Amino acid sequence: MDILGVDVFEAVVVAVWAMLPAYVPNNVAVLAGGGAPIDGGRTWNGERILGDGKTWRGTVAGVAAGAVLALGLNAINGPNASIFGARLPDPFPAVVIVAMPLGAMLGDMGASFLKRRTGRQRGAAFPGVDQLDFVVMALLLTSLSAPGWTLRTFTLPVLTVVVVVTPFLHLVTNMAAYMVGLKNEPW
Ligand code: CTP
Ligand code: MG
Repeated sequence: MDILGVDVFEAVVVAVWAMLPAYVPNNVAVLAGGGAPIDGGRTWNGERILGDGKTWRGTVAGVAAGAVLALGLNAINGPNASIFGARLPDPFPAVVIVAMPLGAMLGDMGASFLKRRTGRQRGAAFPGVDQLDFVVMALLLTSLSAPGWTLRTFTLPVLTVVVVVTPFLHLVTNMAAYMVGLKNEPW
């Protein structure tokens, strides 16, 4: 489907494909989380630096899962590869395989840092920030480490799709994780 000369379907396929290594880490962290918190229990101005919701185990597992997924996507990608007729983006460069999931986890941590500074307790919602924190950081690290690939992959239509679709995907997956008892809050 073309809108103003933009193949919307292809933009959605590229957006989801390219962002998958950033989408998966948060969900894997929920499954793997627990154990020692990254801030070691330390506080700043009476509030935890990050809180008990950011653990070493969850973070390492999340980054590893995102990287393995990126490798898997690269394995099924190739020159002129397409799915459902939509052309796939160029394979993830080696640095991006790490930058994407690491950025996602750092963005999520940055949000927790901001939540604690603004008096929000663990699990409190921070609308807007909760849905896009990981996207912003993942894209920032990725564009710094592989500017050429980032510009080629995240065209304006693709970026637009990412910003519109990500909050929706985030809400749906977190709602599902809440309903099956994996998460304490539906956001
Ligand atoms: N988690 C983790 N390590 C991370 C991110 C998440 O262990 N880096 C796990 C924690 O068990 C956390 C759960 O995933 O409780 C849900 O993640 P999230 O909603 O990001 O954390 P919250 O507990 O809601 O804490 P915060 O208010 O700081 O976001
Ligand atoms: Mg939360």
